[in-house]
Amino acid sequence: MSEKQRVLTGITTTGTPHLGNYVGAIKPAIAASRNSGTESFYFLADYHALIKCEQPERVRQSTLEIAATWLALGLDTSRCVFYRQSDVAEIPELTWLLTCVTAKGLMNRAHAYKAAVDENIERDEDPDFGITMGLFNYPVLMAADILMFNAHKVPVGRDQIQHLEMARDIAQRFNHRYGEHFILPEAQVEDHVATLPGTDGRKMSKSYDNTIPVWLSGKKLRRAIMKIKTNSQEPGEPKDPDTAPVFDVYAAFASEEQRLEMREEFARGIAWGEVKQRLFELVNGELAEARERYEALMANPQQVEEELLRGAEKARAISAPFIEKLRYAVGIRALS
Ligand code: TRP
Repeated sequence: MSEKQRVLTGITTTGTPHLGNYVGAIKPAIAASRNSGTESFYFLADYHALIKCEQPERVRQSTLEIAATWLALGLDTSRCVFYRQSDVAEIPELTWLLTCVTAKGLMNRAHAYKAAVDENIERDEDPDFGITMGLFNYPVLMAADILMFNAHKVPVGRDQIQHLEMARDIAQRFNHRYGEHFILPEAQVEDHVATLPGTDGRKMSKSYDNTIPVWLSGKKLRRAIMKIKTNSQEPGEPKDPDTAPVFDVYAAFASEEQRLEMREEFARGIAWGEVKQRLFELVNGELAEARERYEALMANPQQVEEELLRGAEKARAISAPFIEKLRYAVGIRALS
């Protein structure tokens, strides 16, 4: 096995990328992939998408949009492995091997599953109402994603820490029963990356319907930024940057120097409309060039498809021999 630290993360393909995804996940991941001390794996978790989304066209569209987004923003696929989960058939195969060593009791404790049960109980429904085995097994599939490539570090949001603990637990049980095959992965929670507020001031999230998509046209981007919530303070009145969502969004895109300058502008009473105009220019400036690449890729899905298939080939060069070893380890072997 290689000496380099392996970093791996997955993106569920259900939505359209928004600025919160860009600042919180995509940008840091692309930067990290340029670090020559690590070997990075990024994949589109389309099997995970099926758990949340039963609209086939939406799954396809989201997969295309997310892949095109990462490519347009400069992911260097010659320096990382960028693939689609469903192109690596060894992952669902490993999921089964892991399922057979996973305690059901461990899965009963998963937050997402428990929340769904609690909600049913609260509504006087059957506790299992609407809950699929996909949702219940979600952490095992995620463990397979990670263990398939023996990742050391897994950059994720706070809400995924429990899944990493489960992956470690599952890996340990497998290792205990069948020998030391898996590295125990660690969650890497990016605390220094600010969570971006959405247009209503709460965390930018699809579930709050307050997002700004990454790939709006310049005109629409400006309009979306103008909608970010502010208070009724007049131009000329000193304003507090630390309670203004527009400032947080500005800070996420600005250099240290621009950030300090904007603080002074707030103290001098800059008008909200002016702050938003500058925010628009900053964000648009950062995205305009990539937007053209994005549009070109969206108009040519074949190019994205080929990129993903090349990535899958690299992934399978690792997963195919590894699954052979694992099959052998559990006793699935040739008879002679
Ligand atoms: N569950 C993750 C999320 O919702 C996505 C994901 C799937 C993932 N498989 C993964 C993340 C493996 C890291 C590693 O954000």
